[in-house]
Amino acid sequence: VATKKRPSVIWLHFQECTGCTESILRAEHPTLEKLILDVISLDYHETLFAAAGHQVEAARKTAMAENKGKYILVVEGAIPTKDGGVYCKIGGKTAIELLKECAADAAAVIAIGSCASWGGMPSTIPSIPGATSSPTGSSGVDKVLGKPVVTIPGCPPNPYNFLSTVVHFLTFGKLPEVDDKGRPKFAYSRLIHENCERRAHFDAGRFAMEFGDEGHRKGHCLYKLGCKGPETYANCSVIMFGDAGAGTWPVACGHPCIGCTEQGVGFAKPIHTVA
Ligand code: SF4
Ligand code: SF4
Ligand code: F3S
Repeated sequence: VATKKRPSVIWLHFQECTGCTESILRAEHPTLEKLILDVISLDYHETLFAAAGHQVEAARKTAMAENKGKYILVVEGAIPTKDGGVYCKIGGKTAIELLKECAADAAAVIAIGSCASWGGMPSTIPSIPGATSSPTGSSGVDKVLGKPVVTIPGCPPNPYNFLSTVVHFLTFGKLPEVDDKGRPKFAYSRLIHENCERRAHFDAGRFAMEFGDEGHRKGHCLYKLGCKGPETYANCSVIMFGDAGAGTWPVACGHPCIGCTEQGVGFAKPIHTVA
């Protein structure tokens, strides 16, 4: 991959917390430096760019013109669609306008994180009592473009699911096979529960009943604390987060899986009753 001309990547940020970028920054194989200096040419990224303003907007337009039909577009964050999209503007353009402009000549579009995949956190408004829908009409990339895109959901997503998708595209010239939610099957086809280190406790009926109780301290199953591992398709329990021998993931840290890779599960009401 490294011997070819580095493919151009344009990375847009919309309605989000930048946690997806933070997750990528912590990858170790490859590290971000190796990725952007040897593997891809990161031609537009608002968080990582040293420059700002007209200079970066010009860089984006140049990269799009020089790599027409060949660049990879990565979108982080939901797209506010209410009131003509006025709730997110960059360089004088709404997120809707920017997304459509950048997607038009992209070779591939990847929605990174649950926000870009289907609205995620900005569409759930947990802190607004009585609200029934997102005040800004936060939507996923596929809805705004009117066509399916590859999604790498998670909040944040595992960096290796994103990096593997990019490397798959660079190696084979096509995106990996996806499921009905646009998620690459290599990463999202097994339930968390199938490979969870606490699964033996689940099968034996040993549960933590409250945070800090004896069962919790002993590492028992977190199902009765609301764990959504049995309903959540992702590979966290296999590849974990972090490297250098310190790999860990929510359940290993004692927190139930909240189903952050599932649409409407992670931040919605619990889908099983806690006894
Ligand atoms: Fe942040 Fe989660 Fe949205 Fe990523 S998916 S930008 S981590 S809120
Ligand atoms: Fe399944 Fe969650 Fe229990 Fe793990 S902690 S065995 S994922 S219910
Ligand atoms: Fe998300 Fe559950 Fe993995 S909360 S990070 S899918 S363990």
